[in-house]
Amino acid sequence: MAMLLLDSYKLGDLTLPNRMVMSPLTRNRAPGGVANALMATYYTQRASAGLIVSEGTQVAPLGQGYQDTPGIYTDAHRDGWRIVTDAVHGAGGRIFAQLWHVGRVSHSYYHGQQPVAPSAISPAGRAYTPDGLKDFETPRALGTDDIASIVTEFQHAAEVARAAGFDGIELHGANGYLIDQFFQSGSNQRGDRYGGTPGNRTRFLLDILDAVTSVWPSDRVGVRVSPAGGSNGIHDDNPVETFSHIAAALDERHLAYVHVVEAPVGTNSPDERQVCSTALVRESYHGTVITAGGYTAETAERALEQNDADLVAFGRLFLANPDLVERVRTGAALNAPDRATFYTSGPHGYVDYPVLAG
Ligand SMILES: Cc1cc2nc3c(=O)[nH]c(=O)nc-3n(C[C@H](O)[C@H](O)[C@H](O)COP(=O)(O)O)c2cc1C
Repeated sequence: MAMLLLDSYKLGDLTLPNRMVMSPLTRNRAPGGVANALMATYYTQRASAGLIVSEGTQVAPLGQGYQDTPGIYTDAHRDGWRIVTDAVHGAGGRIFAQLWHVGRVSHSYYHGQQPVAPSAISPAGRAYTPDGLKDFETPRALGTDDIASIVTEFQHAAEVARAAGFDGIELHGANGYLIDQFFQSGSNQRGDRYGGTPGNRTRFLLDILDAVTSVWPSDRVGVRVSPAGGSNGIHDDNPVETFSHIAAALDERHLAYVHVVEAPVGTNSPDERQVCSTALVRESYHGTVITAGGYTAETAERALEQNDADLVAFGRLFLANPDLVERVRTGAALNAPDRATFYTSGPHGYVDYPVLAG
């Protein structure tokens, strides 16, 4: 049966062999923060995805919020990622690096410093450390000089990603991390040009885009957003207004794509209209849209049929099914993801999910 999911797609000057994107997935398999051969095996197993978006990779020490997540700011990081990108390309795949700064979701455990954020407001909940969950520390509100330094860190990470052989980069503006902390009024109570109006709250992202597009053509740069909020204590007083503004601002930037984390329609939606996050972005953003969040092959196919989005990302299904594209093509049964090994170390639950015989 012909499926839109299996059609090729022109993403700028890249040709994706299908419309199935591997969603960014933190897996905590990079001891010392350096990507390695085990990670190369994991990504290469999934190289038949139309596009792989890497797990979040911290752009600087203060950007880290979880154990053994990979970095993307030193020569060692570059060389580690080169093993991954060479292997993925050797298997015929394409991979973007997700650039990540967790802001207030970090903990001094990881770097010995006070975490940073737009405003000195700690998130609800607790931080993950290898010593167990710890209360979040009140973050230090960034000064404008500090903001410029972080923009430079993103630019440097974009350079490292390029030197490491990635095909592009995705800025992690979703799920309550630093860029999202600037977007949303619950975490951004600044009185300067980075706070207040939706335009001011979008400025940090646009500064980063200006910096990274001096390194990459804009059509190799994507942005991930999550208008429905909810993660890591993130909250906005008027998410429809905020994210409509962000989508319109991105529309002028000739990006590779905007990647929208969806909430199930009718639950946890941004406003009383019960709007769907992907539809909200698509109203104001006219380039390529990737939608993510809870999709099955069937619901993804329907989203493409309805032109809700151009590409669909799958997280847990790619995690558990290295050959997800082939399984969708043949209608084969899917492996179930094992939550217990999402964030553990080593090969188990990482590179040992079975593939179809033959
Ligand atoms: C184990 C795990 C790790 C994740 N890590 C990231 C990440 O590093 N960056 C990110 O943007 N989203 C991350 N997510 C969210 C996924 O990319 C995706 O949006 C979410 O799992 C919903 O899609 P799904 O229902 O297809 O799994 C993660 C999700 C899971 C389950």
